[in-house]
Amino acid sequence: MTNFDFIKNELAELKKTDLLRVPVCIDSACDTVIRIANAEKALFCSNNYLNLAGNKQIIAAAKEAMDKFGYGSAASRLISGTIKPHIELENALAKMFNKQAALVFPSGYMTNLAVLQTIPQKGDLILLDKLDHASIIDAAQGSDAEFRTYHRTQFDKIEKFLASEEYNRKFIVTESIFSMDGDFADLKKLVELKKKYNAYLIIDEAHAFGCMGKTGAGLAEELGLLNEIDIIIATLSKSAGCSGGFVASDKCVIDYLVNKARPFIYTTASSVANSAAGLCAVEIIKNAQDKRKRLKQNADYLREKLKTLGLDTGTSTSHIIPVIIGDNKKTLEISKKLFGKGFFVVAIRPPTVAPGTARLRISVQSDHTKEQLDGLVDALRQVLDR
Ligand SMILES: Cc1ncc(COP(=O)(O)O)c(C=O)c1O
Repeated sequence: MTNFDFIKNELAELKKTDLLRVPVCIDSACDTVIRIANAEKALFCSNNYLNLAGNKQIIAAAKEAMDKFGYGSAASRLISGTIKPHIELENALAKMFNKQAALVFPSGYMTNLAVLQTIPQKGDLILLDKLDHASIIDAAQGSDAEFRTYHRTQFDKIEKFLASEEYNRKFIVTESIFSMDGDFADLKKLVELKKKYNAYLIIDEAHAFGCMGKTGAGLAEELGLLNEIDIIIATLSKSAGCSGGFVASDKCVIDYLVNKARPFIYTTASSVANSAAGLCAVEIIKNAQDKRKRLKQNADYLREKLKTLGLDTGTSTSHIIPVIIGDNKKTLEISKKLFGKGFFVVAIRPPTVAPGTARLRISVQSDHTKEQLDGLVDALRQVLDR
């Protein structure tokens, strides 16, 4: 038998410190209610913000594409894996973001790797928000450019870096809605700074895409800043209920990624079903003002109710509402008790969030009913003895 003691020891340590993670197997489509081990649970931790993951139109579009083009793409995009639905999706995304071109990847994680490890180069600086998503941090760590971090309110620190003459080019990279805190980056201010210092602004709209803006393009659209953002990244895996990440920008940026980005070049193209589903989701999202309105109403309602229980929802102002507990063990216990009461809200612990800030990351869906929202608040009231 191979000696894997070094791994077993580390796993044991994770368990001891309440940091061991185990996937939960779901036996149903993803909606406001799911089935786990033959029991129904109200789902409050998925990113299916607009309830499109099980949308019949999207499923039909995927099926139709599979009937026509098959399932597998069978090669990378630059060999023989570029199939019509991929191009149609990219054209639709470019149009939606009012950019010259767009490029789709098998995941949002790969999109961040591709962009940040290809566009910023040796001698450049990547400026990251401290709480940017792991895919952004990993990407920056593997980039030839240097990277530094700031907290989203430290504009003087950002300015100091932007004013430095040490670097060739400077890239500010931020999520628009922060995935674990549910607050917003100050895009207006960042646009102002990038203009003042002739820097580039890259935003990841993973959690805002579909949920904000007149046509669902995200926070930049909502603020009228789409044309001020140099490179926009997002994913189809959250509100669009599909999978695959994408980037929208000037054509030269996309052409450059096609030629240089290893996560684009050296992987098999995602299935046509994904792209056809994504295209259908984009069309639905453009006209989903009603869903966006309900999502916001639900989120505002739930956040206020949680606050009246005296719970710490941090800086959240969006459909992502953390209830910050702090201690890992306690957070796990609360999550388990909620599960027992029919609510699935996963405990988010380090390293996903900073030590001492373990939390329940509640994510709201547009189709959550008032009964479900009230039910969750009631369950929390009981579990926390409020
Ligand atoms: C801000 C952000 N960017 C990128 C990703 C990765 O997207 P995907 O799940 O499509 O790989 C996530 C996913 O959690 C995210 O929260």
